[in-house]
Amino acid sequence: MAYKGLIERYRQYLPVTEKTPVVSLLEGDTPLIRLKRVEEFIGENVRVYGKYEGLNPTGSFKDRGMTMAISKAAEKGVKATICASTGNTSASAAAYSVRAGMKSYVIIPDGHIAMGKLSQALIHGAKVIAVEGNFDTALEMVKLICENYPVELVNSLNPFRIEGQKTGSFEIVDFLGDAPDFHCIPVGNAGNITAYWKGYNEYKKSGKSSKNPVMMGFQAAGSAPIVLGAPVKNPETVATAIRIGNPASWKQAEEARDSSGGVIDMVTDEEIIGAYRILAGCEGVFVEPASAASVAGLIKYAKKGYFPKDREINIVCVLTGHGLKDPDRAIKSVEFAPVTVKPDIKEIEKLIKI
Ligand code: F0G
Repeated sequence: MAYKGLIERYRQYLPVTEKTPVVSLLEGDTPLIRLKRVEEFIGENVRVYGKYEGLNPTGSFKDRGMTMAISKAAEKGVKATICASTGNTSASAAAYSVRAGMKSYVIIPDGHIAMGKLSQALIHGAKVIAVEGNFDTALEMVKLICENYPVELVNSLNPFRIEGQKTGSFEIVDFLGDAPDFHCIPVGNAGNITAYWKGYNEYKKSGKSSKNPVMMGFQAAGSAPIVLGAPVKNPETVATAIRIGNPASWKQAEEARDSSGGVIDMVTDEEIIGAYRILAGCEGVFVEPASAASVAGLIKYAKKGYFPKDREINIVCVLTGHGLKDPDRAIKSVEFAPVTVKPDIKEIEKLIKI
C-alpha cells in the first residue's frame, strides 16, 4: 500500500481521532543506513546504523513532530503558529503551517541560523523575526507571546511534537526486529531524546520489542548545560542547531539517561566536525554538524572502551538533519576548493590522477 505518512502508519499509538484533519507531507519512513566505515572505529562485534532523518520533507526530524502538532492545531481551528528556533523547527513549522492554511511566526537568534534553514522559513512565507541573543532568549519571548495572543506554540513544549517524534523509535524497532542495544542522539532542547525514549517504552509495553536501548545523548562542549549541571549563558558551537544553554526538556532527558542506564555527555566542535567529515567523506551520508554529534559521541565512547566486546550489538545514531541545511559549514570544512582552469582539456588532464 502507498505510504501515507507517519500518522496513518502509527495511528493506534498517536492521540488522533477521525476528527483530526491530518496535515502531512509524507514525513517519516526514513532509512536506517548501515555505517560500515564508522564500525571500523568501534569493533567487529558492532553494527552501527544511521537513522537518516535528513530525508524528511523539510530535511530534518522536526517534520515528525510537526505533522502531529499542526494536525492537532487544525483540529482546534488554530489560525497562526509560533516557534523559537535554531532553524529546523522554523523550516518545518513554516512548511506545515502554510499547508494547513495557517500563518506562521518564527523567532530566531540573530546571525546564528544556517542559510538553508532560513531560506526555507522565508520561502514558505513565515514571518521571521531575529532577536539579539540566543535560542533560549527567543524561546522566552515566544512563551510570553503565547500568554497574550491566540497563537499555537509549536516548539517541543507542545506535547504533540513529542508524540510525533516518538515514531522514530517505532521505525527503528520495526526495521531491526527489536530495539537496538545503544541509541546515540544529539541533544539541544532535549525534545528528541525525550520522544525517542517515550517511543521505545511504549513499543516495549505493547510487546513489539524485548528491551530498551541504553540512551546516549550528546551535547556540544560549548553548549552542554545538562553535562555541566547548570544553564550556559552564552552557548557556542559550530553545530548551531544545538546551540542551546537551557533546554526545555532537561528533566525528561535526565530521566531517559537514568532509567536506561545511559549517559549525557559532550563532544567538542573538533570531534563533531571529524564525525561530520567521516559521514560525508567515507559513508556518502551528508548531515548537518549537529547531527554528527551522535556519531562523534559514539566514537568517543568506543575509544574509552565503553561498549561490550563479548556479544553482537546494534547501535543506532540519529542523523537529525540534512547536510544541505548548512552548506557554508561544508565548504569551510574541506581542504580542497574548486580549481578554476582555462577550457583546455590539457589543463583538466593535469588535475586528474587516476
Ligand atoms: N539536530 C538538529 C539538526 C536539530 O535541529 C536539533 C534541534 C537537534 C539535533 C536537537 O534536538 O532540541 O530535540 O534536543 N533543533 C531545534 C530547532 C532546537 O529549533 O530547530 P532537540
